[in-house]
Amino acid sequence: MRIFKRTHMCGDLRKENIGEKVVLNGWIQKRRNLGGLIFCDVRDKTGITQVVFNDKIPQELFERADKLRSEYVVGIKGEVLERESKNMELPTGEIEVFADDLIIYSEADTPPIYIKDDDNVDDNLRLRYRYLDLRKKKMQDNLTFRHNLVKLTRDYFSENGFTEVETPMLIKSTPEGARDYLVPSRVNNGKFYALPQSPQMFKQLLMVGGTDRYMQVVKCFRDEDLRADRQPEFTQIDLEMSFVDVDDVIEIQEGYLKRVFREMKGVDIETPFPRITYDEAMERYGSDKPDTRVGFELNDITGLVKNCDFKVFTDAIAAGGSVRGICITGAADKYTRKKIDKLTEAVRSYGAKGMVWMKVNDSEVTSSVNKFFSQEQLQEIADAMKAESGDLILIVSDKNKVVFDSLGFLRRHIAGELGLLDDNQYNLLWVVDFPLFEYDEETDSYHAMHHPFTSPKAEDAHLLKTEPTKAKANAYDIVLNGVELGGGSIRIHDRDMQEDMFRALDMSQEEIDEKFGFLVEAFKYGTPPHGGLAYGLDRLVMLLTGEKSIREVIAFPKNQNAQCMVSEAPGVVEEQQLDELGIRLK
Ligand code: AMO
Repeated sequence: MRIFKRTHMCGDLRKENIGEKVVLNGWIQKRRNLGGLIFCDVRDKTGITQVVFNDKIPQELFERADKLRSEYVVGIKGEVLERESKNMELPTGEIEVFADDLIIYSEADTPPIYIKDDDNVDDNLRLRYRYLDLRKKKMQDNLTFRHNLVKLTRDYFSENGFTEVETPMLIKSTPEGARDYLVPSRVNNGKFYALPQSPQMFKQLLMVGGTDRYMQVVKCFRDEDLRADRQPEFTQIDLEMSFVDVDDVIEIQEGYLKRVFREMKGVDIETPFPRITYDEAMERYGSDKPDTRVGFELNDITGLVKNCDFKVFTDAIAAGGSVRGICITGAADKYTRKKIDKLTEAVRSYGAKGMVWMKVNDSEVTSSVNKFFSQEQLQEIADAMKAESGDLILIVSDKNKVVFDSLGFLRRHIAGELGLLDDNQYNLLWVVDFPLFEYDEETDSYHAMHHPFTSPKAEDAHLLKTEPTKAKANAYDIVLNGVELGGGSIRIHDRDMQEDMFRALDMSQEEIDEKFGFLVEAFKYGTPPHGGLAYGLDRLVMLLTGEKSIREVIAFPKNQNAQCMVSEAPGVVEEQQLDELGIRLK
């Protein structure tokens, strides 16, 4: 087949091109026949150009143009002319191309979704026909943005002495805390590879191997429940450095993010970013990834209500919990009983059994607990929250985790509902001094909050032997507008300390050998102090492009059930394949 060699992309042509002979290739967005004139919009990833066929061209060509339908793929030759009725909303809206040749590369059935950015079509249909969805300009812009960001990333880290090294995809399990995707081995029947949840252990081995500074743009796999910012396979910008402390890692990352914002968004962000400890983040925001674009900070009123008549509060306190609340400025009128009921329903998913509300006005405080509190007591609570007339107060009492999770959710959710979260404001901050261990209710045991190679803070190292659960870690997360963008730590590189760590985690020697034996062994032969971090690339692109889900910045994402709607993975396999792997299905 003949291919017209294009001279311009469909978004390129301007007034300056008037009089030029041009060649375009693309898809027909729409076609209108006005008798002696046929108008087509021709589209590619850069935009749309209006093309006109009139009846002065050869009859056969005019008839061919009349056959054009949406999504036909065409090549067009013609001359750029000034448009009579200009469309100033379109970058190419001042010109049109007068066609004198047309080639139809392929015809198209009526597509199941419109190729229109703001088309409100069902997400599953978009994913099923992703290759059509990707024709939308917004989707192509997102892919290009992602490409440019990855390029900048490689440039920046390259300039700073990092080497990109590929690490294996078929590995033994990594201790990142999610479920593994397993791959059965044919050659070693009965044994399984895991797909990496991250290259954590390999990047540490690279430090032992003398790579000094490592980076990789790398796919990671975690079998966990999906959310707007979670996919079973996602991409990390993974980094590790030798001979560094927390400040060194943070400095290089701030330089990176500063450049990202300047080059990708034209925004100058101030460095150094604020640092907040994990404890302070929980106390003030109820979250270890606080969105600091709004206030509504948490207030602890445990002391104030410990002797009150409201059993829900006093029981929670007696059980070791707390009573805390947030005050939403000026929101009393905006939240009807019905809307508050919805919020109460929402916090149930964080384990809260209920939520108390109070509305403050000039003369009195109304609340859902008027029966249990005198007007004076209610006013005292309002004062403790620094509430003023017109404010709405929401209070949760329970175990600290439930209180923090519920209020942490509420402050951000309400800020969103009230339209207070400005997408063009970028609040970056470091959350530091995470606890080394985290209590897991399900198994009634402690596990490493980050992973077992994270070092304790120097002043807490002695606690590993005595009270390990009190130790804080040399771990840090980078948070942007309430989203955890990345996380990392300074690692343990001392063999004795690593053993104390495993002991604190109640791990048997067998378990250590089986899971981490190769890393522990490597540490015997000379290990540089090292540390690093990994960003979620998908999340970074999502936030920078203003998208609400990482699915919008991944070409072929999985749906809610971890399925690829285009290829229908996961699929069934042949009996013979299972036989070879020594696997029988239950
Ligand atoms: P962590 O587990 O914090 O650290 O992961 C790093 C970053 O990866 C992103 N992320 C995800 N993005 C999309 N979908 C997911 N399912 C998903 N899970 C994580 C987040 C997160 O901050 N090896 C350590 C890093 C280190 O210590 O250097 C690690 O993987 O943005």
